[in-house]
Amino acid sequence: MSEVDQQTCVRPQGEFQKSVSGLPEVLVTRRIPEAGLELVAEQCRVRRWDEDRPIPRDRLLKLCEGVEGILCLLTDRIDREVMVRAGPKLKVISVMAVGYDNVDLAEAGRRGIVVGNTPGVLTEATADLTWALILAVSRKIVEGDRIMRSGRFSGWAPMLLLGADFAGRTLGIVGMGRIGKAVAKRALGFGMHVIYFDPQRLEPALEQELHAQYVPLHELIAKADFVCLHCPLTEQTHHLIGERELSMMKPGAYLVNVSRGPVVDEQALTTALRQGRIAGAALDVYEHEPLLAPGLVELNNVVLAPHLGSASIETRNKMAVMAARNLLAGISGRVPPYCVNPPARKG
Ligand code: GLV
Repeated sequence: MSEVDQQTCVRPQGEFQKSVSGLPEVLVTRRIPEAGLELVAEQCRVRRWDEDRPIPRDRLLKLCEGVEGILCLLTDRIDREVMVRAGPKLKVISVMAVGYDNVDLAEAGRRGIVVGNTPGVLTEATADLTWALILAVSRKIVEGDRIMRSGRFSGWAPMLLLGADFAGRTLGIVGMGRIGKAVAKRALGFGMHVIYFDPQRLEPALEQELHAQYVPLHELIAKADFVCLHCPLTEQTHHLIGERELSMMKPGAYLVNVSRGPVVDEQALTTALRQGRIAGAALDVYEHEPLLAPGLVELNNVVLAPHLGSASIETRNKMAVMAARNLLAGISGRVPPYCVNPPARKG
């Protein structure tokens, strides 16, 4: 068996395998929900990295050779090197995520490769997780859990793990896209005042519906009791929250990041948390994921989730199907239903 064959998983087995030779070849870089994989396997020969860990770079470079499409995850860096190794047949890169900062979009554009993502289907799950983190950090749920498990709970105590109230306090949302809006809607139920910043201000009617007030970024950082990040990672948002911004936050404020790790200078955050300059932080994403900034795990005022934003069964199934449909459209020369770089129309 060749090196590629050993890593290749063509599904379903049996009857399907008799007729696969004429089918386009694609790479699926990790085990994804069956619903998506089956759709792809009906129409393609699937090379798949079958281990439940990100595909190592050398395997990615080997397995992508000659494929027409790549269905990848946010953990895979799909850059020029990958596109060159894949070769001229590569037509589509389908990311099973809403964020696609792992793909070199400019290079894909130059090569006429369409790139798809999975917006919309993960909005509610990600907004829910954001609130789970807000609640967990400000009501000290994780610290409480540690106390219970370690047998240190000696009964109700008037001063035990006192957290923050929500009603009447200010939630600051940075990035008012789909997820930011869904987080804002939930804030109404908690009786919070919502302020937001986004390079694109919402229509007045929508601001009214969400009870959200537009403010400049630095005003938001200085006023919010909870600063929630929901912006994409771009050159402009890299280290959007650094030492300076952290020093502008209220001493009793919390930072919540459910966007991308590098939006926050994680070392600066660790220092601010250690020095108690802000009340706490809850993170779902990390600057050098899966690694954490030195010292972060030692702190009690931070809640750390392993990038779970969209991690509900239904949502991940929908994402897999959507990513599969984007891939299949690209393979057959159509623009994927959710395409982040649609080719310019001629004429
Ligand atoms: C998750 O982080 C996503 O971008 O879908």
